[in-house]
Amino acid sequence: MCGISGIIDHHPVTRNLVTSIANLEYRGYDSCGMALLNGKGIEVRKNTGGVQEVRSREKLDNMTGNLGIAHTRWATHGGVTPENAHPHLSQSGDFAIVHNGIISNYQKLRESLIGEGIEFRSTTDSEVFVNLVEEAYEQKKDVLGAFLEALKQIQGTYSIVLLSAHDPENLYCVKQDSPLIIGLGEGCNYIGSDINAFLEHTRKAVVLDDGEFAVISRDSYEISDVGKREEREKSILQIDWDTETTKKGVFSHYMIKEIFDEPQTARQALDVPQEQISQLVEMFQNAPRAYLMGVGTTFFICQMAQYLFSSLSQRYFPAISADEFNGVVPVVSDDLVLAVSQSGETFDTKFSLNSAREKGARTAAIVNVMGSSISRLVDHVIMQGSGPEICVVSTKAALAQALLLLRTALELGFREGCLDSSTLRDHVQELETFPELISKLLNEKSGFLRNLARTTSSVQNWIFLGCGIYFPVAMESALKMKEVTYLHAEGMPAGFLKHGTLSMIEASVHSLFFIPPPADVELHNRTMIAIEEIKTRGGTLVGLHFEGDSQAASLLDHAVALPEVPLLLAPFVEMILAQMFAYYTALDLKRNIDKPRNLAKSVTVG
Ligand code: AGP
Repeated sequence: MCGISGIIDHHPVTRNLVTSIANLEYRGYDSCGMALLNGKGIEVRKNTGGVQEVRSREKLDNMTGNLGIAHTRWATHGGVTPENAHPHLSQSGDFAIVHNGIISNYQKLRESLIGEGIEFRSTTDSEVFVNLVEEAYEQKKDVLGAFLEALKQIQGTYSIVLLSAHDPENLYCVKQDSPLIIGLGEGCNYIGSDINAFLEHTRKAVVLDDGEFAVISRDSYEISDVGKREEREKSILQIDWDTETTKKGVFSHYMIKEIFDEPQTARQALDVPQEQISQLVEMFQNAPRAYLMGVGTTFFICQMAQYLFSSLSQRYFPAISADEFNGVVPVVSDDLVLAVSQSGETFDTKFSLNSAREKGARTAAIVNVMGSSISRLVDHVIMQGSGPEICVVSTKAALAQALLLLRTALELGFREGCLDSSTLRDHVQELETFPELISKLLNEKSGFLRNLARTTSSVQNWIFLGCGIYFPVAMESALKMKEVTYLHAEGMPAGFLKHGTLSMIEASVHSLFFIPPPADVELHNRTMIAIEEIKTRGGTLVGLHFEGDSQAASLLDHAVALPEVPLLLAPFVEMILAQMFAYYTALDLKRNIDKPRNLAKSVTVG
């Protein structure tokens, strides 16, 4: 988590550093700060709060210097206090660092430094490192030597950028299990925890691998291996993301902007070359066993895919939450693990992928962020091409992942003889209409959903229910509701309700049903049974249903009627509209929609 930025330029960097951490704020937003080196030494300004708040309170724009580092924090070690905000200065003030990750042996190191007379200002693990550098510098009088000496002493996960008053010509950085990318400019270079740190300035980047450090000047950079200290040749990544997609434009929040991006995101997912899907399909066909893995939203997307593979290709690939994967899946050689991750940096997913690889599994991933760890870790990656997703709450990226998995299930179904060519063609044609369909629906239904949200925003307890593939849609929608509104929303299969939760039902408890089209007879019947069970017990019923479903319409207290859509697309349509409902509810409750409390966009700690 946390956002890291560093800039070294021939010109003042203050404004670009502020913008850089503002663009990274979705990675963490407890506190932030900057350190710049100028004629008087290193100046640090930092505090708790978001970037704009700290910017005006600490007058960040008045800082001067043409090299500096900056950070936006999601606290792990040490509370949210001004002292714990990064950057951290060494005792003398000649060194400053920003750090992502956790230095696991920091307690011992801290005690030993205290024994040597160092006074700590914060309670973070990070402050230890900057003092180790200073201690080593006193012996070596060489910044790089001191940086490497200090690195030998720490354990854990980290990406660190170092600024030193003893070297105004370079920034130093290192990566171990926490992402770090160098952006290559003209007469200036950048460092970021992801490409959004410098996307406005350059589309050329070099991704650091674990165990690599870099010395970065204004006009050059050198990357080497920490252990051997040998220079490494690295390829340059061309970033094809459009910076326009990082702008909110006319929308008041990124979340709603990104929901309205979904027609385009769907188009991009449909434009991913078929060969990439085919390669993944072959991996499924060749594997003795295959598993789908993600966490949070991506787990629910995997669960949706589990139903798609089962219904379209008659294959059962269990979906497992990445945080539990290792404890429950006895992976053996040649098994396939397909990971789904927007950021490509999620610790739980990366960890389970790595251990599956160690056991000989083949690995594949669907990832959004270019150059991310997971995208480079697996045997086969499909880049979903959804562009930057800024809101902490995933919407458009999740849709794209689901569509890519649907495409995979369709091709597998065809190859396995479960779908004939004409059925496959029909489904592909249906998919082609999807971007336009969602564009129309988002525009037509936004008013209804806004009104519904106004009517129900005081509800404290929600149960989200669905059958079949609508069950993971309900789970994902409940997560969305919780994340962005802070309300209690519990998702479950509609058939599960009678096995306990029914005891909660009373008028104040609202149930939101994801109702399939009546033509999906078996699922529709099962859903209606659960609706009746709640109706009989006086619960309040809310539902998304399709036109012509008079049975559902007559039972629901609040209904959103959707036009007829192909059966294959119906669950995706309901998922998108539930995202919008969560957004409008949060809007009514005046929540911090793009940055909900306690959350961060990419969860890079375990
Ligand atoms: C989504 O709205 C959540 N913020 C969260 O559950 C997220 O999907 C999860 O942390 C996985 O992230 P990833 O896709 O970047 O791996």
